[in-house]
Amino acid sequence: MMECTDRHGRYFLRQISQHVLLYSEMINAAAICYGKRDFLLAFDLGEYPVALQLGGSDPAELATAARHGEAAGYGEINFNVGCPSERVQSGHFGAALMAEPQLAARCVAAMVEAVDIPVTVKCRIGIDDHDNFKFLRHFVQKVADAGVASLAVHARIAILEGLTPKQNREIPPLNYDRVYHLKEELPKLEIVLNGGVRSIEEAIKHITRVDGVMIGRAAFEDPYILSEADARIFADPHQTLSRHEIARAMLPYIERNLSSGTRLNHITRHMLGLFHARPGARAWRRYLSENVPRSGAGPEVIEHALKLVPDAA
Ligand SMILES: Cc1cc2nc3c(=O)[nH]c(=O)nc-3n(C[C@H](O)[C@H](O)[C@H](O)COP(=O)(O)O)c2cc1C
Repeated sequence: MMECTDRHGRYFLRQISQHVLLYSEMINAAAICYGKRDFLLAFDLGEYPVALQLGGSDPAELATAARHGEAAGYGEINFNVGCPSERVQSGHFGAALMAEPQLAARCVAAMVEAVDIPVTVKCRIGIDDHDNFKFLRHFVQKVADAGVASLAVHARIAILEGLTPKQNREIPPLNYDRVYHLKEELPKLEIVLNGGVRSIEEAIKHITRVDGVMIGRAAFEDPYILSEADARIFADPHQTLSRHEIARAMLPYIERNLSSGTRLNHITRHMLGLFHARPGARAWRRYLSENVPRSGAGPEVIEHALKLVPDAA
């Protein structure tokens, strides 16, 4: 997710769950081919497992970008065919590519050929007037034939003109049945459901019908919901860290990154929701927002902010 799952956001989420698969922000394949590749692909091994999400529509560029992603250590390449932003459409990719299944399939095939790690796709259940199962089934069959290992399907259509990206995440109604139907028709293909899932409890219900669930906004607004995932979904009942322990686990990472020039805010902005809906949540947010921008601010700001929040543990 843009602005959310950059490397610092992912490192933070990894302190909460050891097993959930994290995705990078969408990165334009051309930017990796011709831009600041090392900066764009940098990640900390402590974030693992991480999928690199690519946007693009040029099979050769996507293949090259995927190869760089694999070399940088990412465990999966995810191809974005779900983003409805106009900026993305003018670049001829994102959800608009659902209308061009042959091209999408060529992109997938080029990436599958280029790397040994799994290539997956994120798409919608339809676009514009193509709001029916047949359209989705046809698109999915094409990319499956091209070698896609798994599909994450946002259970809403995208309206390519007239809605902002935000509206496109809210206005088209959720249609989970279409995603379940896809899994029933293509049982051998891994299908991950996305859209509107607010808790691990809800995810568990979907997992009886599909292979996995992708959680977006809820994990950013209230990241601690992911703390239940290891025990309840991945059957690894290790002791999860409390919210306070998670904040403290970030301190060495913060020190390391500050000394290499990262701004404190770039890390702490991902941590603002840690105490979501808990006593002290507002004081935590306010203290960080007021004190992180101060010159010379460092990890001690976190220590001070933690004193404002009761430690349930
Ligand atoms: C701020 C923000 C940034 C997003 N960036 C991406 C992105 O880079 N790639 C992507 O596939 N989806 C992106 N999405 C969409 C989410 O991945 C997800 O499909 C959508 O929010 C629906 O799932 P949710 O209801 O669990 O949030 C973004 C969503 C938000 C709110």
